[in-house]
Amino acid sequence: MAQRYCTLGCFLALVYGDKLWDVPVPSDQFPGPGKLTWEPECQYQLRHLQDGARISSVLPPNIEGHWISTGCEVRPGPEFLTRSYTFYPNRLFKALQFYYSDPQCQRPLYSLVIKGKMRLRQASWITRGATEADYSLHKVGIVFYTQDAMSNIRAQMNRTCVGFVSTGRTWAPGRLYELLSAKADRDCTAALNFTMHELSLVRLEKQYISEEKGGLLEKLYLGDIHTEISERIHYRPNGFQQPLQSALHHTHPCHVCNLIYNSDEHQPPILPNTTEPPAHLGGKWVSSQCEVRPAVLFLTRYLTFHGDNRTWEGFYYHYADPLCKQHTFTLRAAGYYTKGVPSKHVKGGTELAFTVNQVWVTPLNQATLRMLNMSRLGSCGTSGSWAIGEEQDITATGGCDVLGIRLPHTEYELFKIAQDNHGRPLLYLGERPTDGSSPSTPNKRPTSYQPPLTQCSSEPTRPSKQHQSMDLALDSAPLPQPQFWALLMLMFIMLHILRPN
Ligand SMILES: *[C@@H]1O[C@H](CO)[C@@H](O)[C@H](O)[C@H]1NC(C)=O
Ligand SMILES: *[C@@H]1O[C@H](CO)[C@@H](O)[C@H](O)[C@H]1NC(C)=O
Ligand SMILES: *[C@@H]1O[C@H](CO)[C@@H](O)[C@H](O)[C@H]1NC(C)=O
Ligand SMILES: *[C@@H]1O[C@H](CO)[C@@H](O)[C@H](O)[C@H]1NC(C)=O
Ligand SMILES: *[C@@H]1O[C@H](CO)[C@@H](O)[C@H](O)[C@H]1NC(C)=O
Repeated sequence: MAQRYCTLGCFLALVYGDKLWDVPVPSDQFPGPGKLTWEPECQYQLRHLQDGARISSVLPPNIEGHWISTGCEVRPGPEFLTRSYTFYPNRLFKALQFYYSDPQCQRPLYSLVIKGKMRLRQASWITRGATEADYSLHKVGIVFYTQDAMSNIRAQMNRTCVGFVSTGRTWAPGRLYELLSAKADRDCTAALNFTMHELSLVRLEKQYISEEKGGLLEKLYLGDIHTEISERIHYRPNGFQQPLQSALHHTHPCHVCNLIYNSDEHQPPILPNTTEPPAHLGGKWVSSQCEVRPAVLFLTRYLTFHGDNRTWEGFYYHYADPLCKQHTFTLRAAGYYTKGVPSKHVKGGTELAFTVNQVWVTPLNQATLRMLNMSRLGSCGTSGSWAIGEEQDITATGGCDVLGIRLPHTEYELFKIAQDNHGRPLLYLGERPTDGSSPSTPNKRPTSYQPPLTQCSSEPTRPSKQHQSMDLALDSAPLPQPQFWALLMLMFIMLHILRPN
């Protein structure tokens, strides 16, 4: 168990001992630039992600301009919303948030008009590739669109902010009420659990896409929202929400973009009807971007679901950097899942349970290798020694202590299937709990979603044994537990001390 108590000194030794991030990786472990003859679409998409997909992040970011949601967003709760934020050259901003009662964002409840000032500060220590920011709020106003929404929030106000309700004014939908005024030193936003901490972490990405009109896509990532509502107000983001896109340089076609762009608090965007694809998991799915998880983890996923016998297999590719170029380790997992049932709590979502009963680990850099190599014999794979690029089965040892993986492991999940703007199916799996734990009981089931996976093959094909290590896929389940996140975090902090950027 010694490795459990490996603290700062131990990791310092690890980091100084090697050039942590410069470890060459055997190139045959990954899809190279050459043409691959099996599953071209899935392989192509993964390779594209590894190429960085011609994405560059801009430091320091210039976020001036108008930024919009490209669809109906789901926040933990669930809350359904669309956003339209404008940042002015003088650091002032105006953010509009439109809240809805339905997962298509067709029935507006109320909107918030948030005005304030924001100042970008230094590059984040914790979340590589992100910039920290300070903000202050000048005014927050609320406009209701239905009598019900108004009564509900008014009742809450009456409990937490009596002065706000008893102003003697009659309440009416369509009228703007000031919830917060810096000048008047009044703040009644707590009744809504409202916070704008998302503005304290910023990342701007530019992507050049030949098939897009204009060729340029600009995405603004703002800080994530804690999955536990009671933590929300105190939580300082270290991951991101789904990005906003520039009103000038967004994905095409995007009918919704125009609707949101042209909306204001008096005319909330009402998103168009969309055909809902059936909630079938079957097929192969890959990440559509390098994903950032809170507590500093970068990864891409490749999952295969066999609808006929409800088994699944997946690969999680873990990286040290926000463009997913520097490999750290890969997890391959397999298991089964239950039949999905429509979620009562999260409209539009489907609930099921995933079980992982087999996991394989491939260390891909010296830090992970050392960590695995230090683990107690029999606590993480039977062989007792690890090598870079060599996959080892950790099923026989019931998982891996040092990675915080216990097997078998069941997670209570949520998913939805949607379509991207080219009509391709997208799979949204549930957001992981922000505290790094796993949704191992039904009451921890997610109420919001991770970034979507794109379908790259609708017909599951038999994985070829010979090419297993290249058949990149990683499941959604056996994520490292808090202790491991803490270790990873430490590695990143060390990295920043050694290489300030
Ligand atoms: C606010 O609450 C008090 C009791 O707590 C109640 O008497 C009053 O009618 C409420 N006012 C409104 C506007 O709901
Ligand atoms: C605010 O959070 C509390 C839990 O901390 C919850 O009971 C309450 O319903 C939330 N209010 C709103 C408006 O979501
Ligand atoms: C969506 O379709 C329903 C009927 O299926 C219709 O009643 C509704 O008006 C449509 N909404 C929009 C925004 O087109
Ligand atoms: C489930 O089905 C897939 C494809 O149909 C097959 O490759 C796999 O071996 C099956 N798994 C089990 C446990 O039967
Ligand atoms: C891993 O452990 C084995 C034996 O336990 C040792 O021979 C090998 O050098 C170690 N490798 C590293 C990178 O520590």
